[in-house]
Amino acid sequence: MTADHDAFGLIEQAAEAAGRAYAPYSNFHVGAAIVAADASTYLGGNVENAAYGSAICAEGAAIAAAATAGVRKIDVVAIACTETMECYPCGNCRQLMVEFGVDTVIVQEPDGSPRVHTLAELLPHSFGPSSLGAASDST
Ligand code: THU
Repeated sequence: MTADHDAFGLIEQAAEAAGRAYAPYSNFHVGAAIVAADASTYLGGNVENAAYGSAICAEGAAIAAAATAGVRKIDVVAIACTETMECYPCGNCRQLMVEFGVDTVIVQEPDGSPRVHTLAELLPHSFGPSSLGAASDST
């Protein structure tokens, strides 16, 4: 997290994305806003499915959008939900974040304010691309 990243603004963008989430089954609307290393930004909302297990998390949707645009390094992921509770990323999304080198995760507090974490705090001792050593291919 650097001074360039406006935590309140990113949470606001994540909340906007949450407003466009497709969550007719859980009614739990999540949004994510990403800032890539090149300062480009991407949004995602959760996308549910009648086959419940096929749901896509907001963070995963945003990371997929960024990766498809060519991003390989993400600095910040901000997460908000329209419901008035904290919305911490699930374990799978934390793992997706490791893959793209996320440094900072900003979570919306119940009062709407941003809470800033490092990804290392949320997923210590993670398994990532470097764990594969010479076997990994970053393309
Ligand atoms: N959800 C997310 O979008 N991100 C998370 O990190 C946790 C859960 C979504 C998935 C599902 O559509 C809804 O929240 C309820 O689990």
